[in-house]
Amino acid sequence: MIDEYVGFTANIKSKLGIDLNLYKEAQMKRRLTSLRNKRGFSNFKSYFEAMNQEEVLLNEFIDRITINVSEYYRNPKRWVVLEKEIFPALLKKTKKLSIWSAACSTGEEPYSLAILLNEHFPQLDFQITATDIDLNALEKAKQGVYSEQSLKELPNKLKEKFFREQHGLYSVKPVLREKILFKQHNLLADSYPKNMDLIVCRNVLIYFTDPAKETIYHNFSASLKKGGFLFVGSTEQIFNPTSYDMNLKDTFFYEKL
Ligand SMILES: C[S@@+](CC[C@H](N)C(=O)[O-])C[C@H]1O[C@@H](n2cnc3c(N)ncnc32)[C@H](O)[C@@H]1O
Repeated sequence: MIDEYVGFTANIKSKLGIDLNLYKEAQMKRRLTSLRNKRGFSNFKSYFEAMNQEEVLLNEFIDRITINVSEYYRNPKRWVVLEKEIFPALLKKTKKLSIWSAACSTGEEPYSLAILLNEHFPQLDFQITATDIDLNALEKAKQGVYSEQSLKELPNKLKEKFFREQHGLYSVKPVLREKILFKQHNLLADSYPKNMDLIVCRNVLIYFTDPAKETIYHNFSASLKKGGFLFVGSTEQIFNPTSYDMNLKDTFFYEKL
């Protein structure tokens, strides 16, 4: 008998365009089996049928596969490298930057980029394209309202300058919003934007299989201008960057050759 999870992944692919086979299987299957059991379904067939009837179940499922955890200036030391090394290197070549924050979740990462640039490189013009597969996350990103917890790594001075506080919630100011275009993009299926100076893609590649990661690295490399940079998450170093026409610039930063 074919593993019924295989049938389920095929159904999900045709319904949502998401290929679960490109995510690490053991991890994904464990997460989904536990969610399915929690909702009282003993097999994936009945779970999928129920999802077709009830949008709440479908949304919960999408939430479970996407894992939207994020925060401002996540891994702060890397943001210092971005400020002191990467942006100055880019500034030598251009005065207008095209930046892509890929798998941006609820927006903390692209807004952090806009804050850093506004604060430290006011002479630089920039446009940030921020994408994610998850429309719910993108909706929150567009709203731009955050708890104190997600701003914990951000210096107080910046919090006061770039946010409006109301009842303990922080709304991003228009000066940040107007620099960011949010849109849906599936890293495993859609075509990639071109001529990027900087691609930030952090804490999503860990969920993908090795062949899927390889394809993504090739695509990122093709998206970058010569001398552009790829910034990855703190568990996502690329062991053979030259296979993708990139060189290690600093830990978790790669320069397109
Ligand atoms: C843990 S968050 C990372 C957020 C942010 N980059 C950070 O490091 O704080 C992972 C994000 O990857 C997104 N994601 C998962 N699969 C994706 C895919 N195939 N294409 C684009 N985004 C995807 C999820 O929706 C989620 O918002």
